[in-house]
Amino acid sequence: MAKGASLGGFTQGHTARCVHDGIGAASRNASRGGLVGNSEASRTRSRYSGYLLDNGTKEAPTRFAVLSSLFDPGTIRHLKACGVSRGWNCLEVGGGGGSVASWLADRVGPTGRVLATDIDPRFLEALDLPNLEVRRHDIATDALPEGAFDLVHARLVLMHLPERKTALARMISALKPGGWLVDEEYDSCSMPPDGTVSPGEVLLQTQVAMSRLLEDGGVDRLYGRGLCGRLRAHGLVSIGAEARAFMWQSGSPGAALVRATYELLRDAMVDRNYITPQQFEEDIARLDDPDFLMPSPILWSAWGRRP
Ligand SMILES: C[S@@+](CC[C@H](N)C(=O)[O-])C[C@H]1O[C@@H](n2cnc3c(N)ncnc32)[C@H](O)[C@@H]1O
Repeated sequence: MAKGASLGGFTQGHTARCVHDGIGAASRNASRGGLVGNSEASRTRSRYSGYLLDNGTKEAPTRFAVLSSLFDPGTIRHLKACGVSRGWNCLEVGGGGGSVASWLADRVGPTGRVLATDIDPRFLEALDLPNLEVRRHDIATDALPEGAFDLVHARLVLMHLPERKTALARMISALKPGGWLVDEEYDSCSMPPDGTVSPGEVLLQTQVAMSRLLEDGGVDRLYGRGLCGRLRAHGLVSIGAEARAFMWQSGSPGAALVRATYELLRDAMVDRNYITPQQFEEDIARLDDPDFLMPSPILWSAWGRRP
């Protein structure tokens, strides 16, 4: 299906983002509980969205390239295990750079279709694939067609959303009976750097500042670990979960991801006095230290079927 063509029942959202500034809570509360789509509550909430890792920044292409190189192999393994194949109707939520949406579009072929959504779909829109539909859509507030998809996938999206409970329920409602949900989210808490394991493992001040900033914006840094239990609570069947983690060294793609993310968030961290410019520069230099070691966040992939 060509970009811009419509899927029945799908309501397009109109969204933009800015750094969470404390005004968002009221508008988020106002928008809870309904499939509101292009409502005033949705538009208001979106202006004050807590999502901080803006796709419009100069760091975004690097971040998406590294996320793809690090995590796509495992993601694709899980998607294949669900049986994604020709003719399937798939939804990719928060598709970001579009690597998973592209893979899905190729996999389902001309008789299948993929809907890829994002609050900022600029990279998805550049894909221009005949069976891929791209929509600007806020999974926290905007409606989805119910019972429509053979597969719904998201990676590193729900953990960012204060409305993650509603969003997960919406993604599950969008599944056909028998359809698969695959959600992949970080646990950034369970494996912190530990210098007693290896001397190169140091908890950087910038990492602490970033965690604080993300939590201010409503990020649940432990969300991935709880996924399996959440899918069970939703009554999904054939549930499973697997975790992946890396040891990131200087010069690695992981270190490039850390650098790009730190730089993207630098001004917000400095403005809030969570880090000084000098501490920030020291930590950035530390990423190039040959001794540098950082356990990555743990990426939990969890899957289940709608009965
Ligand atoms: C960390 S990136 C991950 C991108 C991609 N899923 C991946 O793993 O490579 C999170 C993506 O979710 C999008 N996003 C954030 N909040 C969203 C929301 N409320 N609804 C839909 N997408 C959202 C962002 O714009 C961004 O593209």
